[in-house]
Amino acid sequence: MKIEMNEKLKSRKGLLITPIFENYLDRFPKNYPDITKKFLLKLVKNKEFWGHSGEIGFSYADEENLSDKILLFGFGKIKNYTSKIARELGAKIGKEAIRLKEKNISIFFSKELAKYTEEFMEGILMIQYDIGKLKTKYSKKERYDLESLNILVEKSLLKNIKKDLEKAKIIADAIEYVKDLVNNPSNFVDMDYLADEARKIAKENGYKINILGNKELEKLNAGGILAVNSGSEKEAKLIFLEYKGAKNKNEKPIAIVGKGVVFDTGGYNLKPFQHIETMHQDMAGCAVVLGLFKVMKKLGIKKNVIGITPSVANMVNEKAFKPSDIITMMSGLTVEVTNTDAEGRLILGDAITYAAKFDPKNIITIATLTGAVALALGDRYAGLLGNNTKLRRELMKAGKEVDDLGWGLPLHSDYKKAMDSAVADIRNRDVETYRMAGCSKGAAFLEKFVEGNTWCHIDIGGTAFTDSPKPYQTRGATAHGFKMLLRYLEK
Ligand code: BES
Ligand code: ZN
Ligand code: ZN
Repeated sequence: MKIEMNEKLKSRKGLLITPIFENYLDRFPKNYPDITKKFLLKLVKNKEFWGHSGEIGFSYADEENLSDKILLFGFGKIKNYTSKIARELGAKIGKEAIRLKEKNISIFFSKELAKYTEEFMEGILMIQYDIGKLKTKYSKKERYDLESLNILVEKSLLKNIKKDLEKAKIIADAIEYVKDLVNNPSNFVDMDYLADEARKIAKENGYKINILGNKELEKLNAGGILAVNSGSEKEAKLIFLEYKGAKNKNEKPIAIVGKGVVFDTGGYNLKPFQHIETMHQDMAGCAVVLGLFKVMKKLGIKKNVIGITPSVANMVNEKAFKPSDIITMMSGLTVEVTNTDAEGRLILGDAITYAAKFDPKNIITIATLTGAVALALGDRYAGLLGNNTKLRRELMKAGKEVDDLGWGLPLHSDYKKAMDSAVADIRNRDVETYRMAGCSKGAAFLEKFVEGNTWCHIDIGGTAFTDSPKPYQTRGATAHGFKMLLRYLEK
């Protein structure tokens, strides 16, 4: 899609959108054309338009030099206009363009609107996401597609807006990338696919990369990763990416570790049909890590960051690991496998041990680790757990700023004790009280591998994939955690 900026409308094609704050009803911005003003006054006089948030006034335009259709769009009161509302109204406008099958839209920008250009654009772009990319009509291009977006704006605002638009496009493209990785099933997105994507990203940006396969993982005694992948015909991968954006190249890196289970059948503790259907989402943490590496250099993030994602398929066959197996992790700890469906913590345990070798400033794990987090927090908040209040608060704050929310959950010492085993050092699932505090216990397991590092865990088990999307989201993958982490890295 082409994004342009102009002072005046050039083409008669398409839909002309005029955002109207309630405050504009008697104080109309200078760069808005007279015809929209006339139209507005008529609607106001007939009590058909108030400028309330999301309100719509539609008309055909018969005037020269104007688009063929005009749309007045209510933006509510200026004092209520926040970054979150901007994103939601952007999406609402984007949806309206889709409904009208308009391929070309122009939008008048005022200085009030320009305050949240980035978020507003994000909304328009994100709602264009299409979950039907594998339909044949998608490749045949027989579908609606927004082709051009023309921002009409006073000269004095051009420069600022341009920067914001470019950033919004980079972020929206990355979010689309993350969603595609998560939405596409594991017969497309498998461990090799993820490794190839990481290679592409490293090549495009000049990042250091290292991809470990089964042989290297055996040498490292990565017993967790290998056990979970033992029922799979394909090799496990541990993907390592490094970005050096800090002024001081020796500054300690932030380690971001993402769960990359391309499909989670549950293993011999097989998932029931209601739960198994969407388990191609179980690499959403890995997708967020790849999405971040896609944009960090472009956005000039001034941090050193390493990304580590263990990628496996949790399958069932003769060689698959079994409940009651005792495995030895990369750290040397032995684990009694009480449940093969608690596999994320096994691969992440090894990945955390691997991350700790790089002497990181802190370690952030992001994973669809538990279904239990959804029972606690629903589908709007990711669970935030860890051993450092400051880091947890920083992530929560970053998430709030970009509407990618997280909320703290506790790590009580008794939850940690619940992971003790009678026959090994620890077990991967508590047996006696397993219905309780499942999210905390998953994190408690991970903590056994953190070894004194500052650490925060983001459980996106309830938020990575949704049937009840936010106004600017579509069904399926949400890329939850991507914007939270990006904002955190920007600071
Ligand atoms: N991948 C699942 C968690 C999950 C469930 C993510 C639903 C997204 C949506 C994870 O591997 C799992 O199965 N966790 C179990 C752990 C239990 C066996 C201790 C869970 O949460 O039920
Ligand atoms: Zn599982
Ligand atoms: Zn899983």
